[in-house]
Amino acid sequence: MKIAIYPGTFDPITNGHLDIIERAAQLFDKVIVTVAVNSSKTPMFTTEERLQLVRAAVKEKKIGNVSAEAFSGLLVEFAQKKKAAVLIRGLRAVSDFEYEFQMALMNRKLAPKITTVFLMPHEKYTYLNSSIVREIARLNGNFRDFVPPSVYKTMKKKLTT
Ligand code: COA
Repeated sequence: MKIAIYPGTFDPITNGHLDIIERAAQLFDKVIVTVAVNSSKTPMFTTEERLQLVRAAVKEKKIGNVSAEAFSGLLVEFAQKKKAAVLIRGLRAVSDFEYEFQMALMNRKLAPKITTVFLMPHEKYTYLNSSIVREIARLNGNFRDFVPPSVYKTMKKKLTT
């Protein structure tokens, strides 16, 4: 059974993340989307909200072999606990490379048996990230095309209450 972990902040999950999840789900028996609790970022959504949004998005897409869990601490330790041999990261553009390269090599140093696999989302998502979506939403712009329908609804509600 090949288990892969897809870690991130997911504040919130975007269509770009979902594209990576769909690709990973075709390659591995089980994919665990892991929502970082102790991220250095100050998220708009709580960990529980981010988890629920990931679960709703995966359900909408009817992807069966994907689950979502929160994690804190070292990513490789979480992966070992879950018996995952693979870490998935998305590469959108060359600008992602340096940070991802450093993280992949450090994770390999910490846990040599765990391999980082990079997947490329569809090119229509290369300019997307969660902060840009949050900014457009806060400024009342149209962000419907960038996030799953459940995320769109929840963000709209959050920003009007
Ligand atoms: N589509 C759209 N956006 C994408 C994307 C895709 N396919 N892939 C990445 N992004 C965006 C994210 O939305 C995020 O945008 P934001 O900065 O505007 O919020 C940005 O790219 C990168 O974020 P993300 O992929 O969520 O990763 P992260 O950098 O927030 O998370 C962790 C990094 C949590 C995986 C990492 O810090 C970690 O492993 N922490 C645990 C502690 C640890 O083990 N540290 C040692 C690591 S060597």
